[in-house]
Amino acid sequence: MKIGLLGKGTIGTGVFNLASKADWLEVCKVLDKKIEASCMVTDINAVVNDHGIETVVETMGGLHPACEYAMKALENGKHFVTANKLLVSTYGQELLAAARRHGKAFLYSAACGGGIPFLRNLMAAREVDSISSLGGILNGTTNYILSSMRSADLSYEEALLNAQKLGYAERDPSSDVDGLDTMRKLMLSCAVGFNSFVKPEGIPVRGISQIDTQDIEYSKAHCCSIRLCAYSEMKDGRLAAYVQPELCRLNSHENATVSNLNYAWYKGQSCGTMGFGGQGAGMYPTATNILADLKAIESGILYMTSDKCSPLQIDNSRQMRSYYVRLESGFDFPEDFIEESCVSGNQRFITTRAMPVAVMFELLGNEKKAFFAGKEVQSC
Ligand code: HSE
Repeated sequence: MKIGLLGKGTIGTGVFNLASKADWLEVCKVLDKKIEASCMVTDINAVVNDHGIETVVETMGGLHPACEYAMKALENGKHFVTANKLLVSTYGQELLAAARRHGKAFLYSAACGGGIPFLRNLMAAREVDSISSLGGILNGTTNYILSSMRSADLSYEEALLNAQKLGYAERDPSSDVDGLDTMRKLMLSCAVGFNSFVKPEGIPVRGISQIDTQDIEYSKAHCCSIRLCAYSEMKDGRLAAYVQPELCRLNSHENATVSNLNYAWYKGQSCGTMGFGGQGAGMYPTATNILADLKAIESGILYMTSDKCSPLQIDNSRQMRSYYVRLESGFDFPEDFIEESCVSGNQRFITTRAMPVAVMFELLGNEKKAFFAGKEVQSC
């Protein structure tokens, strides 16, 4: 297969290097800002107008011009493969429509879970089974922060700094620590697993930046650890989805997922729960998933969603969870939901009864001085 590569950063270099060792793959052109080799170009038209190139692989990241380049590639009759979850979660519907119009592929296995073959297996399962729920730890940066806060007794700030030094977290870590990266991967999982395009506005998202060492202590005292988890469930035609910190039992897969690893799972009515762990980012793991998409195209797989994939509103009204909550002692938390409560200094620690997820997000979803975590992780 002859490919054009858009971007030669970390992932692009991984694809380039793996392709140079694969006898079935040839990188004909590489689009980048500067020309370092004869195959490199700085004009997208040199890639999309090259009749020899069958597939365009996008590893440049960002929304623009990635979206315009993707459209150009599809309109010029190229298959399109990407690792860009921001692009797919924002313009996936439009890109899929363009790909179907031109009879070309639109695949994005590496955009959720980096090197983990999660979306590909989820797609295969959806074709023979009915997926009832899915989720997991979809962000390595936050997992590194949470697991090292616990294992090395670090503050949030110290763990974040280490994550930045190790290259896991960006200089501006907000999309990771605020849960947006996890949410985008959950959107892709909903499209693949439930054939449903969901809008980001509909998904309640709580990240980890409010966490404190007191929360880690609470989790230890209750034989749990804290992880940032995505969750989605399809029941009676209603699709629930949310992202929040969870207290995970010590014998759970989530607790065993340490450092910057990811763990994604789905549950099918016939197959039961299937879990996938591994590197959710990085040069070669992510590039491997891109190469697997290229192989899939060769075997005739062009799309990750069926032609029945359609928009669906998120409805969390039936989601009931109990929570651990830490907030300032003066905060007026509704008594009806409280099972246990104690005050220490200016902090109040609450265990709630099962309560609607939507209500928890209404109460504390934007509260900067509170931390909350779901009490029973859902995958087990
Ligand atoms: N920032 C992401 C993470 C990179 O930490 O998981 C992979 O999508």
